[in-house]
Amino acid sequence: MQFSAFVFDAYGTLFDVHAAVRRHAGAIGSDGQVLSEIWRAKQLEYSWISTLMGRHVDFWTLTERALDFALKKVPSVDPTHRDTLLEAYWHLDCYPEVPAVLKALKAAGARLAILSNGSMPMLEAAVRSAALDSVLDDVLSADLAGKFKTDPAVYDLVTTAWRIYPNAVSFQSSNRWDIAGAALYGFRTVWINRTQQPNEYTDFPPDLILPSLKGLITSS
Ligand code: LAC
Repeated sequence: MQFSAFVFDAYGTLFDVHAAVRRHAGAIGSDGQVLSEIWRAKQLEYSWISTLMGRHVDFWTLTERALDFALKKVPSVDPTHRDTLLEAYWHLDCYPEVPAVLKALKAAGARLAILSNGSMPMLEAAVRSAALDSVLDDVLSADLAGKFKTDPAVYDLVTTAWRIYPNAVSFQSSNRWDIAGAALYGFRTVWINRTQQPNEYTDFPPDLILPSLKGLITSS
């Protein structure tokens, strides 16, 4: 293995953010997917604006605010689903290949961490419910930096915690904006393009594009 330090974004990369809505698809109705997409888009927008404004608000609060906006925007979804949807966020499904890939990297001697905008309680709950706690060496929340990705202070959490240079880290994210930030920071970047999204942020390309985490074992 060329790399011995692997860092993963959480939401969309290890954990399926749309699982919360899918789990209750029957009760929510046909606009569930639109609701889920608006919820996620607003959650991210609020995080970037909070960092640009220099007013850090934890990701859980932003997740709640984003859902409140989405429920108003999609009035066909009964707002009494609010608490159930938020609750599901605490035990999201991880993508099917995640446990085996992390175990294989770990068995090959790699150090593994999550670096996420998520708050520590959210991340700890998701890691526990996906039973990933035994393979991860560290869970790093952007809250420790008081800023959100793509601020370099967040990527710094890894190099500071592990005392290594950025180019010794392989960083995996399915969020293209996160890959752009990580590439600028100097990590080796792997864009996990799970849903065949068009490429963007072409000034900051990934080093590698994979359809899932599976290819990580052979390409690292
Ligand atoms: C993460 C989100 C924002 O940092 O995908 O985990």
